[in-house]
Amino acid sequence: MPPSPLGCRLAPLGIFLAICLIGQSPAAEQTGPPRAAVASAHPAATRAGIDILAAGGNAFDAAVAVGAALAVVEPYSSGLGGGGFWLLHRAADARTLMIDARERAPLAAHRAMYLDDQGQFVPERALDGPLAAGIPGLPAALTHLSTRYGRLPLGTTLAPAIALARDGFAVDRVYRDYAAFRRDTLRASPAAAAQFLVDGEPPPPGHLLRQPDLAATLDALAREGQAGFYAGPIAERLVTAVRAGGGIWTADDLRDYQAIERAPISGTYRGWHLVSAAPPSSGGVLLIAMLNMLDTLDAAALTGTERTHALVEVMRRAYRDRARSLGDPDQTAVPVEQLTHPLYAAGLIRDFDPRRATPSRLADLDCAPWTERRPADQIPPPESHHTTHFSILDRDGNRVAATLSINYPFGSGFVAPGTGVLLNDEMDDFSAQPGVPNVYGLVGGEANAIAPGRRMLSSMSPTFLESEQGIAILGTPGGSRIITMVLQSVLAVTEGAPVTDWVTRPRIHHQFLPDRIQFEPDALSAADQAALAAKGHRLEPLQRPFGNMQAIFWDRAHGRVQAASDPRGIGSAWVE
Ligand code: GLY
Repeated sequence: MPPSPLGCRLAPLGIFLAICLIGQSPAAEQTGPPRAAVASAHPAATRAGIDILAAGGNAFDAAVAVGAALAVVEPYSSGLGGGGFWLLHRAADARTLMIDARERAPLAAHRAMYLDDQGQFVPERALDGPLAAGIPGLPAALTHLSTRYGRLPLGTTLAPAIALARDGFAVDRVYRDYAAFRRDTLRASPAAAAQFLVDGEPPPPGHLLRQPDLAATLDALAREGQAGFYAGPIAERLVTAVRAGGGIWTADDLRDYQAIERAPISGTYRGWHLVSAAPPSSGGVLLIAMLNMLDTLDAAALTGTERTHALVEVMRRAYRDRARSLGDPDQTAVPVEQLTHPLYAAGLIRDFDPRRATPSRLADLDCAPWTERRPADQIPPPESHHTTHFSILDRDGNRVAATLSINYPFGSGFVAPGTGVLLNDEMDDFSAQPGVPNVYGLVGGEANAIAPGRRMLSSMSPTFLESEQGIAILGTPGGSRIITMVLQSVLAVTEGAPVTDWVTRPRIHHQFLPDRIQFEPDALSAADQAALAAKGHRLEPLQRPFGNMQAIFWDRAHGRVQAASDPRGIGSAWVE
């Protein structure tokens, strides 16, 4: 059989070299930065981080405060009922690690749970209601981070979030838009409708939204630590409500949940050391793979359409591998060393043709029955504020990049009565039926099939970059587009662009399937579009911008710290 254009039949490499020092920065900081900084998707969360730093907390304490505050004021993005990935760097011993607080499939999960009697995927079963919810990881991450890395008690670091939940916050336009988008799903859960709607409708901007049950659950977490959520009355209420609503959680699912420390993925690109999320996120692996391919193409020398063409072709190839090979590393063999090896990247990109696009359908003829079919009832959300990201740097040089999620806006739309906890619908990130796309159009196969206790594959990509010039901390929400957005910001960093550029540059995206270049308004001129179409690319202009990048740069060369919050969102960046 002939090799496919994307090297699908590449023989396994005989030698895999370690490309990086996993878990260790190349150069420990000599001195701390001159300023601390916080950038998050909501001003109230940024404020919580500032207050905790001012109270003597370190970056990890501030991260607990920001993560918990976002759970209150951005219920459409993340929350105690969700999970995420936390990239940490501790300056004292130059240790870099990832806390994997990804949701797990319940122990009763099975691969047919979202299929109908004919074996066809029913998308809404994986998106709406408690059957769509994985076992949450955020509460475990908050307690893990606080007890292992923080200086302050959890009662102090959770206090801003508890106050926001108890006393209320003013509804903003993003909240209103997403509540309108998910109104019918929220209405189906009486406790969710009572918490997030007013008389069954999205509240108007300025409405003071109070969440007393959520305040009480946060308080239980503050007093009792992990057991305050995963055992006792809160856990009982969660399990009872989930099962009454058609879900399959058990007390064992909650009791067994643990956040896991993992070595992040690292690599180098043009003198910068990059660290990003490891599986079960696909972020770090794909970032290194794409940067390796760009290096092979010497893409830094390209401009205009030629650069866009090269970017699209590396995205296509990396997302093809995502679909084929990535999943929960504790349950499936993920070939990380191979996928992040420069020689493998050279093989993947060897059939790159500067004159024409490589059609994705030719990429995988012998690999999988992928389809571009998108269920008609899956309407993409209006923007990309589902999932959230924040970045923190303290004066000691400790840093955090955290990307947190409950998946689709307002997650599953289900609140367990008496808890205030909105459950995720992260189960849709599994490949529920091989080759059939999920809500983001992503396809997958065996490596990401549903299995009991398995963590579903993610795209979340909290990232650090480090060189002689400085240290960058960045990340963004945006579903399947997260990784390509971070890639484009990484390129901006390595080009020496200012931090405001990292968050504002217009974005393009390709994810293997659907085989189209999606792009923000203004990202491609009419001439660019014509030139790309002439190479055989299919183009999908998007009506609205996407992403909500939060970034910090400790510019060591000039002894300064800068931060920026994406103008597409309503967040705020603060430098001490
Ligand atoms: N739920 C989006 C992601 O984890 O990639």
